Amino acid sequence: TNYSPSEPPTVSYYVPFIGSMIEFGINPIKFIRKNQKIHGNFFTFLMFGRRMTVCVDIDGNDFVFNAKHSCVTAEDAYNSLTKPVFGEGVVYDVPNSVLMEQKRMVKAGLSIENFRAYIPIFIQEVNQYIDKHWTESEGTVDLLQSISEMIIMTASHTLLGPEIRSKLHEGVADLYHTLDSCFTPIHFLFEWLPLPSYYSSGKAHDELDRIFGTVIAERRKHTGEKHIDMLDALMESRYKNGEPLSDKHVGNMLIALLMAGQHTSAATTTWALLNLAANPDVVNEARAENEAKFGRKLGAKSFPEPSYEDVKDFVVLDNVVRETLRIRSPLIELMRKVVKPVAIPNTNYVIPAGNYIIASPIISSTDEKYYKAAEDWVPSRWNTAEKEDSMDKATTDYGFGATTTSARSPTLPFGAGRHRCIGEQFAYVQIKTILYVLLNRFDFSLDPKRGMPERNYQSMVVLPEGPVLCRYKRRAD
Ligand code: HEM
Repeated sequence: TNYSPSEPPTVSYYVPFIGSMIEFGINPIKFIRKNQKIHGNFFTFLMFGRRMTVCVDIDGNDFVFNAKHSCVTAEDAYNSLTKPVFGEGVVYDVPNSVLMEQKRMVKAGLSIENFRAYIPIFIQEVNQYIDKHWTESEGTVDLLQSISEMIIMTASHTLLGPEIRSKLHEGVADLYHTLDSCFTPIHFLFEWLPLPSYYSSGKAHDELDRIFGTVIAERRKHTGEKHIDMLDALMESRYKNGEPLSDKHVGNMLIALLMAGQHTSAATTTWALLNLAANPDVVNEARAENEAKFGRKLGAKSFPEPSYEDVKDFVVLDNVVRETLRIRSPLIELMRKVVKPVAIPNTNYVIPAGNYIIASPIISSTDEKYYKAAEDWVPSRWNTAEKEDSMDKATTDYGFGATTTSARSPTLPFGAGRHRCIGEQFAYVQIKTILYVLLNRFDFSLDPKRGMPERNYQSMVVLPEGPVLCRYKRRAD
């Protein structure tokens, strides 16, 4: 045995500089699985001159998510991508200790009290969208597009507040879109290129700043009016030293939160609904559970507004979301940059400064080692002890400022450690409420010609390959 430290093995490639970029880009999951078989859980590949070290399985997840901040940082990996979109002074454009404080501020807008106020808004927005767009008694829709709009409306209304929500049709949605166009792998790979999207994103950002600034100023004039939304929570928040967030940083935080929650939740809701469309037995279980809970038959018009506790207790829908996230995690590559050589525990590998490291928790969450029929969508598998063994431990600790959250669950769709998602509860409440309304109002089936879409890996968030056609049929009242 050789105990002298060495670098993880390198994937061989044929084209210098470009390296494995093309194979990785086409299907990263296939690429990682193939190389995991050859090289084990840690290996390096070359992508446009960058050295990317993939770290998979439970040990790999744990290593990336809990690496010491003095050696491994997210801000050095992400800021060039996120700064043009989020703007300055927030998230990865500040030292990590400031991000930890900003995440604490966001938590104030994600309290149970806030969720209680958000649920009726979610329902109102979904109903309003359906009444306007799904007007036939049956039809075919582009599900990803419809769900994306429902997510924008519900998230904007509850996070940015009713004033900005009401401006969505006056072009605010287009401004989001422009910013979004910067959020692609090409901007990560070629951060030094003067891409035209940077110019338009700068203008879109200025325009959003102006709109947010007006609304914030208006709210400051009417301090007596209480709003229950993220905008209010951030306007009221203070750093430990007593300083408030500047109005500009409040706006930038809101943009960051919308971006973090938009495609991730839209993809998850769409995949969940596609799988429900293909599995009417699960739909029946969800409806039976709701009818038992409310003690009566539910139909397209006669379903009650659930309380926060009701939504929490929708067990079938909870399993549906959890299972969808297991096999269709929208974020499949989480990245960090190595700033000081770092040893991988229990190996003799050392990763040199300058490398990027990549965690891909979907590799363990779809590994036969941990789940039977691992690629199949089986929500009921979460009824068993598996849920306790894996999820609960991993999700109870939010990891604010924590350096060692347990990351040893095979399923980590929200990450772990100091950068762990804080939007998980919001996403669950939002997605379950949307599914509740849709399943009461419609029956769904896959488009017979299109079937179940494949995954599209061309964006930062993995989406179903379009067109994402789905059939709906209005249920009896
Ligand atoms: C971080 C997934 C929804 C806000 C993360 C991370 C993951 C993730 C994997 C860790 C990133 C990393 O380690 O590099 C998801 C999924 C979602 C979702 C799958 C929906 C199904 C949301 C929502 C919000 C949000 C709705 C806001 C309301 C954040 C924030 C972070 C984060 C603030 C922290 C970033 C950091 O500390 O570096 N999310 N997210 N997410 N997410 Fe989410």
